[in-house]
Amino acid sequence: MSETLIDEIKQLQKEKNAVILAHNYQLPEIQDIADFTGDSLELARKAKEVEAAQMIVFCGVRFMAETAKILNPGKKVLLPAPDAGCPLADMAKVEDVVEMKKKYLGAFVVSYVNTSAQVKAVSDVCCTSSNAPAVVRNVPSDTVIFLPDKNLGYFVQKQVPEKKLIVWDGYCFVHRQFTFADLKKARELYPDSEILVHPECNPEIQENADFVLSTSGMLKRAKVSQAKTIIIGTEEGLLHKLKKENPEKQFFSLGPARICVNMKKTTLEKLKNCLENEDNEIILEDEIMKKARNALERMIEYV
Ligand code: 13P
Ligand code: SF4
Repeated sequence: MSETLIDEIKQLQKEKNAVILAHNYQLPEIQDIADFTGDSLELARKAKEVEAAQMIVFCGVRFMAETAKILNPGKKVLLPAPDAGCPLADMAKVEDVVEMKKKYLGAFVVSYVNTSAQVKAVSDVCCTSSNAPAVVRNVPSDTVIFLPDKNLGYFVQKQVPEKKLIVWDGYCFVHRQFTFADLKKARELYPDSEILVHPECNPEIQENADFVLSTSGMLKRAKVSQAKTIIIGTEEGLLHKLKKENPEKQFFSLGPARICVNMKKTTLEKLKNCLENEDNEIILEDEIMKKARNALERMIEYV
């Protein structure tokens, strides 16, 4: 059944000249069929480079597909699971960001890519988990409004103490679930392991891990690490690629596997239907796209 489905998707992909991009948290079968997998920054970059393709099918959550559309406005961008949102992105509303800007006149607004296109449009620059400290360090302002993730804000403030960060009160409910007890237990069970965590984890998890990295940062670290056991404090979807790329090492989730339900909404069936019907297209107002593109393009300038 799945084999037929995979063949059908491949056939449709060829007929429609579509490129399939998938985030590192997607289901294993989606990662395997994708042309490219990566973290938010890599996928945003890839979306800009796919000149020859007729359309981009984005296997991820809405803000990621919107980013692909904003960077590539002439291309059709489809989101196979149209209800795949990001609760963290929903924690920053445009009106509240505008209010904050009025309160801190002159402060630079740095928005994590996990925001809506509308919020990006009222931001000065975007960042991702892999370049946030560099972006904040290089913005031409001593005060920065950083949104929407407070744990990433904590991580950035530590790396860039010379800037004053006004940090939004948002969080990722998936990464917030990792506990200090999980970490303590992992150290006891696997004393020679290396613990890699995402900057969306709580401060005490960041403080007691070996490295704080984006999902692709974890993939890179796993390749060069001397440790035979690696434990990850991020969404469990990353384990698929980690295991595939490093068969000689063992990988575990920190505590029970943490799942982002939105990332798991994309299935092979939905991918096939989306390719077939060319529906669930990302449509954004030109003016919003233009402003949001400025913030995204500045991000590339500042790193
Ligand atoms: P990365 O950019 O590190 O892949 O993170 C995206 C994300 O949504 C983390 O929860
Ligand atoms: Fe959003 Fe968290 Fe899911 Fe990432 S893991 S997409 S931040 S809800």
